[in-house]
Amino acid sequence: MRILFVGGGNMATALIGGLLAQGLAARDLEVVDISPEVRSRLAGRGVRAVADLSACSGAFDVIVLAVKPQQIAPICKAVGPMAGGALIVSIAAGIRTGDLVRWLGGHRRLVRAMPNTPALIGAGITGLYAASEVTDADRGRAHRILGAVGSVLWFEREALLDVVTAVSGSGPAYVFYFIEALEEAGRSLGIEPAAARRLAIETFAGAAGLAARGEDPPAMLRGKVTSKGGTTECALQALDASRVKEHIIAAVKAASERAREMGDEFGKS
Ligand SMILES: NC(=O)c1ccc[n+]([C@@H]2O[C@H](COP(=O)([O-])OP(=O)(O)OC[C@H]3O[C@@H](n4cnc5c(N)ncnc54)[C@H](OP(=O)(O)O)[C@@H]3O)[C@@H](O)[C@H]2O)c1
Repeated sequence: MRILFVGGGNMATALIGGLLAQGLAARDLEVVDISPEVRSRLAGRGVRAVADLSACSGAFDVIVLAVKPQQIAPICKAVGPMAGGALIVSIAAGIRTGDLVRWLGGHRRLVRAMPNTPALIGAGITGLYAASEVTDADRGRAHRILGAVGSVLWFEREALLDVVTAVSGSGPAYVFYFIEALEEAGRSLGIEPAAARRLAIETFAGAAGLAARGEDPPAMLRGKVTSKGGTTECALQALDASRVKEHIIAAVKAASERAREMGDEFGKS
């Protein structure tokens, strides 16, 4: 599988690292990026990196669009004529397949992907959506690329990618927010900063690890920590009194709505 990445930033670098770690040869990867620093970083890993699409070598099985959503329309217009039989995978947040197909000049072998930043350590989760013309073999290719940096979930309705964006795409930021709050609470109650941070991070990682084992649903795990009249119950009552769960749900809904709006906004050009 020969893969061209257009845009060699954070997400592309994570995907390239994952693919190399899985044994894909560096000679089968190529990157187009306008930044000389990005190109020299990739060249250091043995990956050919060029400044312009016209300097790319040969044909590719997959072209991954990994630039910012604002930059994607002109990129698609340039990629369309050279796409040939390649599968196009777009990781640009919010940009819909209808707009991508239009900018690509009618190319319909298209998969949209919404990864998240834990991909940088191989622990990402990606939501995927395939346009109707995409074959099973192409789905397999997209699955292999995104699966190189974590797990993947396919969705049959494109609109659900806005929800994926709000839940797991933006999700790491909510987790960091919670870690910050836990750390700050520890500090304000007298624990020195480094220890407070460690307690917050390792509690989060440990609890997520327990939940990921899937033996008990999260609500049951929570119940097991909560004894009648104890400290946890006291904290959870304070959270419920402030309607924290409802506020979190409202925040994720707002993010999902914003993803939909961004699709409308960027899709206009
Ligand atoms: N980071 C996330 O959490 C996340 C999660 C899910 C999806 N995504 C999506 O992934 C995409 C990439 O995000 P990222 O965080 O990897 O962005 P990034 O680090 O900014 O990477 C984009 C790269 O593309 C380069 N570039 C810009 N215009 C170009 C052009 N015309 N030709 C070739 N290269 C060009 C940029 O160079 P300059 O910096 O010089 O402009 C930059 O090196 C975005 O669409 C984003 O929505 C990101």
